[in-house]
Amino acid sequence: MSTKNESGELVGNRTQIQLDNDIEFKELALQQISDAGENWAMHSLAVMKRNAIARILYLDEIYRDILLVLGVICEFGVHWGASIAPLLNLRNIYEPYNVERFIYGFDTFEGFASVSDKDPGAKVGDFSSIGGYQETLEKILNYHESISAFQERRMFELFKGDASITIDTWLENYPGATIALAIFDMDVYKPTKEVLEKILPRLTKNSILVFDEFCHQKFPGEVQAAREVLNLMNMDIKRSRHHSHCAIARFS
Ligand SMILES: C[S@@+](CC[C@H](N)C(=O)[O-])C[C@H]1O[C@@H](n2cnc3c(N)ncnc32)[C@H](O)[C@@H]1O
Repeated sequence: MSTKNESGELVGNRTQIQLDNDIEFKELALQQISDAGENWAMHSLAVMKRNAIARILYLDEIYRDILLVLGVICEFGVHWGASIAPLLNLRNIYEPYNVERFIYGFDTFEGFASVSDKDPGAKVGDFSSIGGYQETLEKILNYHESISAFQERRMFELFKGDASITIDTWLENYPGATIALAIFDMDVYKPTKEVLEKILPRLTKNSILVFDEFCHQKFPGEVQAAREVLNLMNMDIKRSRHHSHCAIARFS
């Protein structure tokens, strides 16, 4: 049986012993980071867990797929920033001179804004972060930008609120933006369907759409939205070697 934590996040099929060990390991990790000197970030790789390493490998796989695709990156469902921050760093590593590769993040920062009968088990408010987290995440992303090749540059923006509404502001503010990569990770049906319908005109033949819950028993809403809006038979869809339920889909 999968477990949820107090924010409504699924934390997998862990036994009580594993959950207890995890609490102990978190303390060890926080202590290690606090004890390490100014190279704490490098030394913290010693306490980075397998799933976090897999997430970076997965994002790297996707990022390398878009290097020759024109346009910006949008992530729908940012949560604590565990994907948008590595994506921003990957951009600054792989293509610091791509001055058009803006990264836009969308989230309520208050968890699911709505759930439908296509999202059994999901509750409004699940996957919330904490009050004021958008500002904290902006500081985190600002810091990452400040240690890039162009320290003054800020090539990201966060949109707070229901993405099916804030996407209208984005479309209006950026009429020239084409989307190279859209990551759907809101988990639930309605916003996935509405955002997907609205961004379709901004995609090109080689744009990549990532659906984080494409093959997921607990969150069947996301793939249903994708099926209703896209002709999946016309898309080149692959899985990631580092992720069990996501689809990396390219118009072919
Ligand atoms: C699974 S988390 C995203 C995880 C994140 N992509 C990562 O890599 O860590 C799902 C996120 O979707 C957001 N979300 C759900 N429904 C939303 C909506 N209608 N508009 C904006 N964000 C939404 C939630 O607030 C939550 O932060």
